[in-house]
Amino acid sequence: MKITWLGHAAFLIEGKDTILVDPFLSGNPHAAVKPEDIKCDIIAVTHGHSDHLGDAVKISKRCKVPVVAIAELSNFLSQKGVESLGMNFGGTIKVKNTTITMVPAWHSAGIGEAKFGHSGGTAAGLIINSGKKVYHMGDTCLFLDLKLIGELYTPDVMMVPVGGLYTMNIKTAAMAVEWVKPEIAIPMHYNTWPIIEADPNEFASEVASRCSSKVEVMNVGWSLEL
Ligand code: NI
Ligand code: MN
Repeated sequence: MKITWLGHAAFLIEGKDTILVDPFLSGNPHAAVKPEDIKCDIIAVTHGHSDHLGDAVKISKRCKVPVVAIAELSNFLSQKGVESLGMNFGGTIKVKNTTITMVPAWHSAGIGEAKFGHSGGTAAGLIINSGKKVYHMGDTCLFLDLKLIGELYTPDVMMVPVGGLYTMNIKTAAMAVEWVKPEIAIPMHYNTWPIIEADPNEFASEVASRCSSKVEVMNVGWSLEL
């Protein structure tokens, strides 16, 4: 499996299928690729905020691939003519050769593009299995049920928001890793703008002081082979 960080919370996961997660590319000052250069089989979105939904509609229509999202956001996407697959917490969906399980995240979820007139349901985390189990946490604060998520789904890789203000910070993100116990943790959702400035190496040290999970600090555009 190959995992590429496209910037902010956007990743391209190349396993049995190629899955694009949270494709905020247009408008991201540090995006690694342009939306028109993406090729993928499935798009998955954690919530409707514009820095996660991003270019999902455009890419889905061009590549003719479905978008997996929580039920309310999925309905919104259907209304925009997108092939969307709705689900909810605790559920697992099989798309092509990949399964995606939706888990809770503690975060708001109004759809920015709809000027917050359309509820996006709630924010979610996604456990994507396309050969390895990859847990993309979305935006969330620290919550105790992460221990249960770790026990139930034993993810190999976890993408962890560390930038603070809208999500966990260095310390609480390291606690999340300690509780979920993935083999590999990848920090995300930091340094896109000055308001979410964080030092990923500080996160790596904090994790190392707590547990044996390995932190992979990536640069935007870098890939990790597993
Ligand atoms: Ni958000
Ligand atoms: Mn966000």
